[in-house]
Amino acid sequence: MRISTQKAIELLRSGHVVAVPTETVYGLASSAFDASAIEKIYQLKNRPSANPLIIHINSYEDLRPIVLEMPPLELCQTFWPGPLTLVLPIDTSKVPSIARAGLATGAFRVPSHPLARQVIEGAGPIVMPSANISGKPSATQPEHVEQDFGSDFPVVDGGKCVLGLESTIVIYNQGVWEIIRQGALSKVDLKKAIGYEPNICIETSKKPLCPGQMYRHYAPKAKLYFGSQPGNCEAVLGFSDRHYGCPTISMGSLTQPAEVAQKLYSALRQLDEMGYASAWVDMDFPKEGILLTVEERLRKAANH
Ligand code: TXA
Ligand code: MG
Repeated sequence: MRISTQKAIELLRSGHVVAVPTETVYGLASSAFDASAIEKIYQLKNRPSANPLIIHINSYEDLRPIVLEMPPLELCQTFWPGPLTLVLPIDTSKVPSIARAGLATGAFRVPSHPLARQVIEGAGPIVMPSANISGKPSATQPEHVEQDFGSDFPVVDGGKCVLGLESTIVIYNQGVWEIIRQGALSKVDLKKAIGYEPNICIETSKKPLCPGQMYRHYAPKAKLYFGSQPGNCEAVLGFSDRHYGCPTISMGSLTQPAEVAQKLYSALRQLDEMGYASAWVDMDFPKEGILLTVEERLRKAANH
């Protein structure tokens, strides 16, 4: 069910969960301060309780009442509003434990999508995981949310998400910024603000820095396989610039990496809509910039 931002604000204020578009992917929103509403998100998504949520705010200053130490203004000014999430130590009395899976840190992002900003303006800080059943490809258009949660589920309709990949999550560790989840901002983008390309660091001595990285993700029902040739494949997940000799679901043109990022989750969902049991994935593309994140998502989707 498509709803206005005003209706979304009313529902959020009365403890309900709604889907909201962001520039990255659609999010499943509840008030960041309402533990029982947050519990509903975990149930709806079938999300492991050890996987914390990102708190979405509208400005740098919104952090001040919640965090123990403010992050560098310059970094935030460069990327906020936008697809950067910062993990910061917080005052745990301010955010329900369930939102942060019991951690003493919180993940924060200022989205740029005007509809998300209107909702936050009216409802206050909201937690938003991606609006998909846990493990499935994220939702980048309202129809995807309805596929996962039913046509009666309240969705603010923002059309297709512009970026199509989740935010990049960073943490400050021993004097340097590290990427703990690859996302819509690349290492090269981050270098412009911090002066170096941050390392991608998924775990320290078997402890995941980003709990979500432990779980299977982004996976269609279709079995994905890699390899040098499509062979006798049922379908190909590939690029519009190439011909494969098999039915192909296109992620767009390799000359337009941003388009590939935007189409990725739709293409993964399309495999299931078409009823394919398996597909060969064309992994022969430059592993740089945003395509590095695309590669990581495809590997996760294929469980490689
Ligand atoms: O672009 C995005 O980030 C989207 C949109 C809706 O904003 N949201 C999103 O949320 O991708 P989700 O729940 O699908 O992914 C959030 C990730 C999870 O992997 C979680 O483990 C990590 O953020 N996370 C949340 N709080 C954390 C914390 N305190 N420390 C480390 N990782 C955290
Ligand atoms: Mg997600």
